[in-house]
Order: sequence, then C-alpha cells, then structure tokens
Amino acid sequence: VPYLRNCWYLAAWSEELAHASALGRTYLDTAVALFRDESGVAAAVEDRCSHRFAPLAAGKVVKGALQCPYHGLRFNAQGQCAHNPYGPALRAMGIRSFPLVERSRALWIWMGEAKDADPALVPALDYFESVPDSAFSAGYLHGKAHYELLSDNILDLTHTEYLHPGTLAAGFVGKVRPTIEETEAGIVLTWFVPDSEPLPLSRKLLPDLGRSDLLMRVEWSAPATMKLTSGTLPLGGAEADGYLNHNLHVMTPETEASAHYFFAATRNYRVEDADLNATIAAARAQIFSTEDLPIIERVYERMGGRDFWELRPVLLRDDEASVLARRRLARAIAAERGTLPPAPPEP
Ligand code: FES
Ligand SMILES: [Fe+2]
Repeated sequence: VPYLRNCWYLAAWSEELAHASALGRTYLDTAVALFRDESGVAAAVEDRCSHRFAPLAAGKVVKGALQCPYHGLRFNAQGQCAHNPYGPALRAMGIRSFPLVERSRALWIWMGEAKDADPALVPALDYFESVPDSAFSAGYLHGKAHYELLSDNILDLTHTEYLHPGTLAAGFVGKVRPTIEETEAGIVLTWFVPDSEPLPLSRKLLPDLGRSDLLMRVEWSAPATMKLTSGTLPLGGAEADGYLNHNLHVMTPETEASAHYFFAATRNYRVEDADLNATIAAARAQIFSTEDLPIIERVYERMGGRDFWELRPVLLRDDEASVLARRRLARAIAAERGTLPPAPPEP
C-alpha cells in the first residue's frame, strides 16, 4: 500500500532537536537527517552522503552545515555541498533536501513534490503555542506496527474499558453512542456521557471532582493527525466551563511495518502547575508505552504481513469512525496517484 506523499508529516518535536545538532529518522522508507544550525534554523536533507553513502545524521554541524562523519563533506539546508576538504564544492555533490516547517513546537516535513509544500497546510495547533511550558508535554514512541493500526486505536475509545481499566475507562461502552461527523477536513468523533463518574485518572489528579458530564472528541485528518479533547464538564454545563485536556496524537509512517508515534498535551486548568504537568505526562507515557503500544505491536505481528482488509476483520458497531478514516485515507492516496480507491466493506 502506498503512502500519501503530498502532505505534512510530523518529523520531530522541536525539543528533540537541539541547536547545532542532527537527528536521523526514516519517513516513508526514506532516511532523513534533520539538523539545526547554530542560530536554531532547522532543515531536512537525505541521510545519505553523496560520496560513500555515510549517514549524515551521525555527523556534526559545522558553520551551519552538516558535516559527513566519514570524509568531511558538508551539506547546507538546501542539500548543496557547502564544503569539500579536497577541492571545489561542486553542484553534482549535492543531495536531496525536503521542505521543513517548524510550528506549534513541532517540525513538519513534506515528503512529496517540493513545489506543492504549502506551509498554510501544516495542521493548526495554535493552543500549543500559547500555553506555558508548565502546561505542555510531548512524547515520542517508536512502534513496530503499521501506522493505521495506531490511528485506529485513537478513533476507538471502546478499548479503554478493557486495556486501561484503572485510568481511562469511563464505563460508557455499550451505553452511549458517539456521533460521527464527516467534514471537509476529516472526521469528528464525539462521545458525550452525561452524569458520569469522572475517569479514574481524572479523579486521582483532581480529587474534588464529583459526577460530571464527560466529553471525548477526536478530530481526525489525513494521513494520521488526531486532536483529542477530553473534558470533565459541570453537570449540564458548557464545554468552556469544564476541565479540558487538549491532546494530540500523530503517526508518521517509518516503513510499512513501523511508525513514529508522537503525542502531546496541554490543558485549560492549573496551567502554572508544573508538578501536575509532570504527573499527567508520566501517566500518559506509561499508559501508551505499556498498554497501547504492546497490544498494537502484537496485533501487527499476528497479521503476519497481510493486508488489513484481506484478513476480513469482523467489524463492530463502534469501528465506524476508524473504518471511515481508513476509507478517507485510501481515497486521498488513490486520488494522489490518479487511480481508483480500493473499496473496504461497510461497517
Ligand atoms: S561518505 Fe561522506 S564524505 Fe565520504
Ligand atoms: Fe489506549
């Protein structure tokens, strides 16, 4: 199955790339070196030297260019050879570079046609820009699974009941139905649970909470960007009056069989409370790395390299959103390639 190419993929959190340093990561089967010059400007180039193919991300940044760790050729942000220790730096020594935009505390890369890389298409995550550090945390996990299995997981909140009983289980499975809205941008899945006990994790973090209206809303857009708002609202009250957590989940394919899983969160309450921030970040990282990721990796292993639809998965009622998302992505990929989309079954 091919990838969607003409779109922005989350490449790294800003904080993962220090000044005058490099980071090697593979996206869509292509090895890329991210680096930042001394003044902090980030760039992305092919992670394979034009001379003897050494990984450039293992080198260091010298005078704003990435120096190959093997024989010292240097490449600038445009991939041009900026320095050749043995003679003139020639145009033919250049390597590929990729459009890269830094916004909302993240680096976004464009793996498709560079001329189509419009920065206005970078997902808008304004709430990550305006919050203090004490209300923001970001995490990264490497997953040995197809990236769509990871995005299915966020569109499927029923699993919380079984996989996260002590933290995120809300007890609404089978009792409440979500609403699903298809928009031009993607899919909006909303669970609203009136007059509920708060989630076990919320109760631990905010012990004064009583019965509340729970809100969980996932906004999916292709290829795999999901904003998840989880709120504990006063009974019968407005969303704006609730305790809101704004979470982001983004998957970037590394290969067909592996993915980068980026997550981040901010909130609208106790934003100066750095201890609370650390507690939330630790709980989340713990849940994703010890509960979600292991089961998804085992699912992928059980699939034995076969296609998702070819295995004829049984579809349950609440799989509707994830199936819609898979279809939307398949259509976008097919449109990009100018072919007919495959037709997954109706849920
Ligand atoms: S492999 Fe990079 S300079 Fe030789
Ligand atoms: Fe989960």
